[in-house]
Amino acid sequence: MTQRILFVCLGNICRSPAAEGAFRARAQHHETDSAGTSDWHIGAPPYGPMQEAAQARGLDLSDLRARQFRAEDFDRFDLIIGMDANNIADIEVLRPMGSETPVRVLTDFAPDTGADHVPDPYYTRDFDGALDLIETAVAGLEAHLR
Ligand code: 4NP
Repeated sequence: MTQRILFVCLGNICRSPAAEGAFRARAQHHETDSAGTSDWHIGAPPYGPMQEAAQARGLDLSDLRARQFRAEDFDRFDLIIGMDANNIADIEVLRPMGSETPVRVLTDFAPDTGADHVPDPYYTRDFDGALDLIETAVAGLEAHLR
């Protein structure tokens, strides 16, 4: 069954567009989007160094544009996936009364890595490390949805 999956990070220019790009490349039958908890980069394409690191492994992120996460997303998606505990807290603040939409951290789907969040490459500059973790986790997510 087609699922509507929303990936969320802080800026919506590094981790969540990468997760969206990696997931849609391997699970075309699901509907995907990404969003940021902040309004800092609304309308912007993914960050250049992340686009280049993703392109090097065959993931084209150039069509994606940042938008801000909003309360209506709880109704528009079946599963909301944040990148770290701050994302989860910022998402949950907007949960409408009565909404039971699950919110998970992406690393829940990569248990073998031992990671409990996706470190932000905007700060760490480790774009390949973030992509490695993201690609492992979206493979786990795809298996979880099957
Ligand atoms: P993201 O990374 O949440 O993975 O998109 C960030 C991008 C930009 C900023 C922070 C995090 N910023 O401060 O502009």
